[in-house]
Amino acid sequence: MRKFAASHAALLAAAFSLASCAGGDGAGGDEAAAGGPPPMPQPITMAQRPDATGGEAKYVEYCIMCHGPNGMGTGLLGRRMEVSLLEARDNLTAEYVITAARMGIGNMPAIPRGEVSDEDLQAIADYLAAGPHIEAPAGGPQ
Ligand code: HEC
Repeated sequence: MRKFAASHAALLAAAFSLASCAGGDGAGGDEAAAGGPPPMPQPITMAQRPDATGGEAKYVEYCIMCHGPNGMGTGLLGRRMEVSLLEARDNLTAEYVITAARMGIGNMPAIPRGEVSDEDLQAIADYLAAGPHIEAPAGGPQ
């Protein structure tokens, strides 16, 4: 009985510290709300780039969901690269793009041939290596 009471107290203590953590998160949220939430980013799809052909079209099809503005890849690259949008880079080589895509890099999963063919990946890599195609957004990584 005594043992039960002790472990019950430990559980209560754990619950209490969890609750105070949640309180901390709430305070952060208030701060963000003060400036107003940023507008929801529009997903970039072929609908917004109807004229895209070749490597650009394949990039929009296979990569831009992570590498567009507010994409997960853009966000993570923003931590270690000055320019986080792949299409705004002037320093990518086709070999690097292909290796990164096939092997995976950091938090990016490897993209197998069954998903993106060698031909399509080569077109994407050539497109990115010929960049920059767009301007890096002002004010740093998005
Ligand atoms: C599921 C999301 C996702 C998809 C889809 C994706 N990527 Fe990535 N990519 C990432 C993430 C996340 C990183 C950053 C990895 C890190 O630094 O941890 C990244 C990094 C990269 C890098 C490294 C850039 C550098 O400077 O080191 C290249 C190149 C790249 N991706 C190319 C591509 C290409 C080409 C495609 C489409 C064929 C693609 N990615 C599709 C998530 C993705």
